[in-house]
Amino acid sequence: MVELKESIENHINQISEYTATPGKGTTRLTYSQEDLKTRNYLKGKMREYGLQVREDGFGNIFGKLEGTLKDAPSVMVGSHFDSVPHGGSYDGPAGVVAALEVAGLFAKNNLTPRYPLEVVALVEEEGARFGGGLMGSRGMVGLLGEGDFQNLRDQNGVSTVEAMTEIGLDPSLPKKRDPKTMKAFLELHIEQGPILEEKEIPIGVVEAIVGLTQLEVTVKGQAGHAGTTPMDRRADALVAAASIIGRLPELAREAGEGTVITTGRLNVFPNGANVIPDQVVFSVDIRSGKEENVLNVIEKTKTLVHSYSKNRIQTSLEQLLYIQPKELNRGIRSLLKEKSEALEIPYCSINSGAGHDAMVLSDYTDVGMLFIPSKNGLSHCPEEWSDSEDIARAVGIFYETAKSLTEAE
Ligand code: GLV
Ligand code: MN
Ligand code: MN
Repeated sequence: MVELKESIENHINQISEYTATPGKGTTRLTYSQEDLKTRNYLKGKMREYGLQVREDGFGNIFGKLEGTLKDAPSVMVGSHFDSVPHGGSYDGPAGVVAALEVAGLFAKNNLTPRYPLEVVALVEEEGARFGGGLMGSRGMVGLLGEGDFQNLRDQNGVSTVEAMTEIGLDPSLPKKRDPKTMKAFLELHIEQGPILEEKEIPIGVVEAIVGLTQLEVTVKGQAGHAGTTPMDRRADALVAAASIIGRLPELAREAGEGTVITTGRLNVFPNGANVIPDQVVFSVDIRSGKEENVLNVIEKTKTLVHSYSKNRIQTSLEQLLYIQPKELNRGIRSLLKEKSEALEIPYCSINSGAGHDAMVLSDYTDVGMLFIPSKNGLSHCPEEWSDSEDIARAVGIFYETAKSLTEAE
């Protein structure tokens, strides 16, 4: 266990060096120099662990241990390796590192699987650079088409294809993966909430993941001089946007049952202290375990936003992402519990309030997910921390589960 724990800590420490904001958390935007450094590290480790490495046309990384069966579907283990701005070291990498170590145990024990084992490291789960989120997994299953992918731009107008090319990736590589090549997907993730820590239980077997949507609202007004334009002659886009945002929490509270709504990104144009803003673009993230709540709050948000289109203010709304709540595979959930029991690792069932690549892949293959505790329930911030011992526990459970799913001997 000590060797495994050490190896996990080394990976996490090394990957956390690849940040654009040293000392202020992890900022690892997709197709950035930090992405490239992490990618090279992961590919190197995959090769060291005896895996054949390939990338797809999105830059997702796959490290494969061939099985004895020819052209058989893979048991995939993994997560994403991008981050939010000023995030932590564990959201994403914990799952990729766990997957690497599962492959490491196959290598160490000279196991030959019947079905292939694949370590998967996905891009742009957070959507921090190109918006929406879950891009790597959505792309991989064909939910994000070539045209839509190419049209995505970051805040500076750089396209996905330009950004990929900049770090030497090849966007013309195959993108869509045939679901017939996937036998199962296992993802370890930090809980990002307080439940496991409070219960003092090291492992959560995820039963279901919330439904979520991401909207982008644009408010347009008229720019003008901050000193010379009388208050009754203004069409201030930021005043309108602020008023809308201030009314959003009420919509989630009305829906109840744990429904949440967040505006976390807001861009003001032209963003000058003495200029009346003529445009504001902001995000609205809505989530609930019950799909009807998400749909309900989307409708109410649309009505609210459109009601502000008056007096020289124009509003519009675009839906960047919509995913229904997902129940994870029953068989895999049972297998994860069975393996935890056999290893005498305490576990409980848990639901996920965060979105994960697992929810996208669950429509295409059998998916199972484990959570480990997050210190003080914190995530998406530099203080994010999880115990490498818990990651090691999850590796043990996934190793046994992957052995069963690949029928390794
Ligand atoms: C990913 O962290 C999400 O839940 O948005
Ligand atoms: Mn995240
Ligand atoms: Mn994540």
